Amino acid sequence: MCGIVAYIGKKQAYPIILKGLKRLEYRGYDSAGIALLHDNQINLYKRQGKVANLEEFAANKDLNGTSGIGHTRWATHGAPNDVNAHPHYSTDGNLALIHNGIIENYDTLRKELILHGYVFKSETDTEVLVHLIDDIQKNEHVSIAEAVRLALLNVVGAYAIVVISKENPNQLIAARKSSPLVVGIGGEGDFYLASDATPIVEYTKRVVYLEDEEIAIVDLNDGLKIFNINNQEKTPYIQQLELQLEALEKGGYEHFMLKEIHEQPRSIRDCFRGRMNADEGWVSLGGIKEYEQKMINAQRIVMVACGTSWHACLVGEYLFEDLARINVEVEYASEFRYRNPIINENDIVIAVSQSGETADTMAALELAKSKGATILGICNVVGSSISRITDAGSYTHAGPEIGVASTKAFTAQVTVLTLMAVSLAHKKGTISETKFHTMLAELEAIPEKVKMVLEKNDIIEKIALEYKDATNALYLGRGSSFPVALEGALKLKEISYIHAEGYPAAEMKHGPIALIDEEMPVFVIATKGTSYEKVVSNIQEVKARKGKIIAIVTEGDETVKEIADHVIEIPDTDEHLVPILATIPFQLLSYHIAVMRGCNVDQPRNLAKSVTVE
Ligand code: G6P
Repeated sequence: MCGIVAYIGKKQAYPIILKGLKRLEYRGYDSAGIALLHDNQINLYKRQGKVANLEEFAANKDLNGTSGIGHTRWATHGAPNDVNAHPHYSTDGNLALIHNGIIENYDTLRKELILHGYVFKSETDTEVLVHLIDDIQKNEHVSIAEAVRLALLNVVGAYAIVVISKENPNQLIAARKSSPLVVGIGGEGDFYLASDATPIVEYTKRVVYLEDEEIAIVDLNDGLKIFNINNQEKTPYIQQLELQLEALEKGGYEHFMLKEIHEQPRSIRDCFRGRMNADEGWVSLGGIKEYEQKMINAQRIVMVACGTSWHACLVGEYLFEDLARINVEVEYASEFRYRNPIINENDIVIAVSQSGETADTMAALELAKSKGATILGICNVVGSSISRITDAGSYTHAGPEIGVASTKAFTAQVTVLTLMAVSLAHKKGTISETKFHTMLAELEAIPEKVKMVLEKNDIIEKIALEYKDATNALYLGRGSSFPVALEGALKLKEISYIHAEGYPAAEMKHGPIALIDEEMPVFVIATKGTSYEKVVSNIQEVKARKGKIIAIVTEGDETVKEIADHVIEIPDTDEHLVPILATIPFQLLSYHIAVMRGCNVDQPRNLAKSVTVE
């Protein structure tokens, strides 16, 4: 994980870098640090904890400099303390470096460097890089840029780095492999470098996304030059950012998560805008159009993802199988890649990822690609690594998601998967024309219905107050509501630190029922549909053991109301679309409980939004 940001130009670098680090804090917040080049001196300030700690610490220091690098860390090697914080210095203080990724062969490199007389201050894998570059430069008498290139040839692992040096004060050197890096080209001959475009968008819309094993040299005299690791120069491909600055701000909400929950009527609409029309009766996902026949013919589709995105895939599995009758397997990306899976050219592998940078998901895709499968992506971040390595895909268009707990990205992923399933089913003829038209009409009505669910906020807040001190919680659902139960439990545990488990409702009696007593809240999705009666029986089983039932029901339901301790009504919709609506009360519930417990909602402990380490 980790976020990196750098600037070189005529402006003061510190405020730009500091603001950039705040934007990238979702990538990790174990420590933060900045190195500024001023008067032939590299001033380095770093602090354990959030960027705010660094800001406080640096407040009365020399913060001058028109060139600098900054880092916000999610610890992998070494504890989250001041010493392990980036940037890391060379012994003579002539160069400093920031890094996002993992140097897998760091131990071997470290031992070699110790033999060469280097003394390590930190426990990080990153410090080997700075000494390695220094060692190569001194022994081979090459430029810093060349030393960086030669050093990277010796490195196994993932990296996005930026190097600043006293020797070349007009230059920053950056490189990437498997960790993202964007170069922003400013209007005054200045340059911005960052893990994603959010720290850059305020200053320029012209960006270049570096490819794997590319090295970028930004030079105040020579401009931007890009080379591959074999030293061949490449022409930078400049893209125009579409990101809007307002999307990165809280817009009057107390937390990003709350803002993002409330954005869902809009984000879902943006997701299907231009992709379907219920009146005219069509659906078309431009990005994957060419691959639809292949998807229909595929013996199976494998969906790979992690975390919340994996839950979206589980909903996708129900949709694809039930509507389009296409066999789907859902895999944790991390497990898939280490299992020697059977994949061939007829397989289609779809990666679902908000960030488009998750290392395990990337690796799973690379594996599938190497075996000849067609690889597709469903990503939120435009220009992300996954969106670039896939053969084709569909963006979710949910807009930047900054709260670490995923909300609007999930409902957008489910919306894209629904569009895909409906489109494939229609083409394949596995749903009737009537069903096709009802599905489109229902989808079009979903944003309004999401709004109606959001209006239940006060009821949900009251329920939150009652259960905020619970130590355990159970979430139950059946069919496509089972992934909603998993997602509900994940939201609660990740932001409020209450232990929670999601289960298929019928599985409860095979274990979790033993946990039920009067202290245990059980959240159940009991909306009208195929398994309604069965779920009602499960609710009875919980009540018989004095558990507390909080049920999500279809508007007007009277049966569950009589048995449950609390009900949250959601509007009636097609059964296939229930996951989108049913997930919203759980998002709000976790949010309120986390706030009541005094937790850091947007940046829960130990987590990061973009997991670029395996
Ligand atoms: C992290 C985030 C989760 C996210 C998961 C997968 O764990 O905290 O919110 O669901 O990574 O991320 P992706 O970007 O691939 O969807």
